[in-house]
Amino acid sequence: MIRAFLFDLDGVLTDTSEFHYQAWKRLAEELGLSFSREDNEALRGVSRRQSLALLLKGRPVSEAEAEQMMERKNRYYLEQVRQMQPGDLLPGAADLLGELRSANLRTAIVSSSKNAPLVVERLGIAELVDWIVDGNAPARSKPAPDLFLLAAEKLHLPPNACVVVEDAAAGIEAAHAAGMRAIGLGPHERVGAADLVLPNLHGVHLNTLLEQLR
Ligand code: BG6
Ligand code: MG
Repeated sequence: MIRAFLFDLDGVLTDTSEFHYQAWKRLAEELGLSFSREDNEALRGVSRRQSLALLLKGRPVSEAEAEQMMERKNRYYLEQVRQMQPGDLLPGAADLLGELRSANLRTAIVSSSKNAPLVVERLGIAELVDWIVDGNAPARSKPAPDLFLLAAEKLHLPPNACVVVEDAAAGIEAAHAAGMRAIGLGPHERVGAADLVLPNLHGVHLNTLLEQLR
């Protein structure tokens, strides 16, 4: 019995993945490192620190330098986030959140991003979500199951009553490790391990989702 939907944020409800990419790219250029869109695919869904490690491709840096680089990237990212508006919700996202509310199903945002609460506020969807688990939680980031398990605990639900909506391979892996079903948004090469694969949330309705997951 499905009682809750746990949504990843970046790349699922809004296209912040593009802002993350632009911010990392700006940092990479300043450091004289190459960083393509293809390189960026590996960063989808992973934490800020792991992302930096992937960007550096083995280049050694001190802890102080790493901290400073992450701070810089975040500054660039926030320049974009501060300009976000409810119109930056991806097509279908608001409708689905509304349908879940009307159907009395619980909802949570489960994101590796420390900026998730700010993004939720900018998108104006705080009223439509029951809980936010973000990258500040004292837990391992995706692909570990921790963040999803924490959300289930906060919603007082067993993991198998929760369905995850994710755009990252690391997120699908985390959902399955948590004992939850996963809906993957995006190409099969990325989210093919999910229980249900859809291109995005455009035109997606709760009734059909529940049927497809049955
Ligand atoms: C994830 C994004 O949601 O959050 C990653 O998919 C990002 O691209 C990660 O690196 C951490 O975000 P932040 O805002 O804490 O740097
Ligand atoms: Mg994502």
